[in-house]
Amino acid sequence: MKRISLTQYLVEEQRLHNSIPAELRLLIEVVARACKTISHAVSKGALGEVLGSAGSENVQGEVQKKLDVLSNEMLLEANEWGGHLAAMASEEMETIHPIPNRYPKGEYLLLFDPLDGSSNIDVNVSIGTIFSVLKAPEGMSEPTEEAFLQPGAKQVAAGYAVYGPQTVLVLTTGDGVNGFTLDREMGSWVLTHRDMEIPADTKEYAINASNARHWYPPVKRYVDELLAGKTGPRGKDFNTRWIASMVADVHRILTRGGIFMYPADAREPEKPGKLRLMYEANPMSFIVEQAGGAATNGKQRILDIQPKKLHERVAVFLGSKNEVERVTGYHNE
Ligand code: AHG
Ligand code: MN
Ligand code: MN
Repeated sequence: MKRISLTQYLVEEQRLHNSIPAELRLLIEVVARACKTISHAVSKGALGEVLGSAGSENVQGEVQKKLDVLSNEMLLEANEWGGHLAAMASEEMETIHPIPNRYPKGEYLLLFDPLDGSSNIDVNVSIGTIFSVLKAPEGMSEPTEEAFLQPGAKQVAAGYAVYGPQTVLVLTTGDGVNGFTLDREMGSWVLTHRDMEIPADTKEYAINASNARHWYPPVKRYVDELLAGKTGPRGKDFNTRWIASMVADVHRILTRGGIFMYPADAREPEKPGKLRLMYEANPMSFIVEQAGGAATNGKQRILDIQPKKLHERVAVFLGSKNEVERVTGYHNE
């Protein structure tokens, strides 16, 4: 197999499509390097004393794990000095993180969920990192929170790393989706998943069914029809998968199809779902659409949503196109 490294891929993409200028390439390489560091810490587990709680809470009132805090610091540190960023924002930080004055500033904004799937850290199940890249509005010298409040359609790049049996980085810059496997001995990312595509149809769905009693009618109707199987209205059997790490569920869907759902429900009607628009839903929706899938909040395309605040939450239906369209149709009937 001819090995193509992440660097070579990025350089050649720029030549072909003019879509990855040097600053953006640096950004992606620096994020990928930070993911390598996080992957290393994750794989050490108890030996690296990285398991367990950090004894603090984040802005959403969730208990932070040591790895949530560590990964956040690794991403901040890696990305501060390169001169490619104007500011960063993270699921784990209440306010935005401007680039310190001792470093030059660039035109990009970086957002991340440093460690996705926190409940899986201590039980040795796949977890990941999700990131999203925007451009700072023109003429802005000191970026504020408002600079980040752009619809997902404005992203110039998005990706995730999944720390599973293999560590894989999946990336889009708006021209398809490609996956790179970390070669630990060589310390490099190697292109292993070219032009990832999500099949339009599927027999697999992912939803946390313990919330079923709180679901709104369109979700209940859709899942009931899946559960009815061969003799029901869908005329085929479906299978459930729920990993509780969005990264791992989305990675499965990119590999063999499926639909992932985290709906809003009647528990807290004022709360539109659990997942975060800026750090989870937007980057994953960009990737999924670029792989031929679809992503909605039940009513509209996620990438069209105008964010109102940094830590905004959103309902998520994403994956195989025909299934996402069906459940979205039930909401709009
Ligand atoms: P995080 O660990 O970054 O807070 O995200 C966890 C998210 C997502 O990865 C996953 O799909 C979902 O929460 C799982 O939620 P439940 O525990 O409600 O199943
Ligand atoms: Mn997450
Ligand atoms: Mn997280």
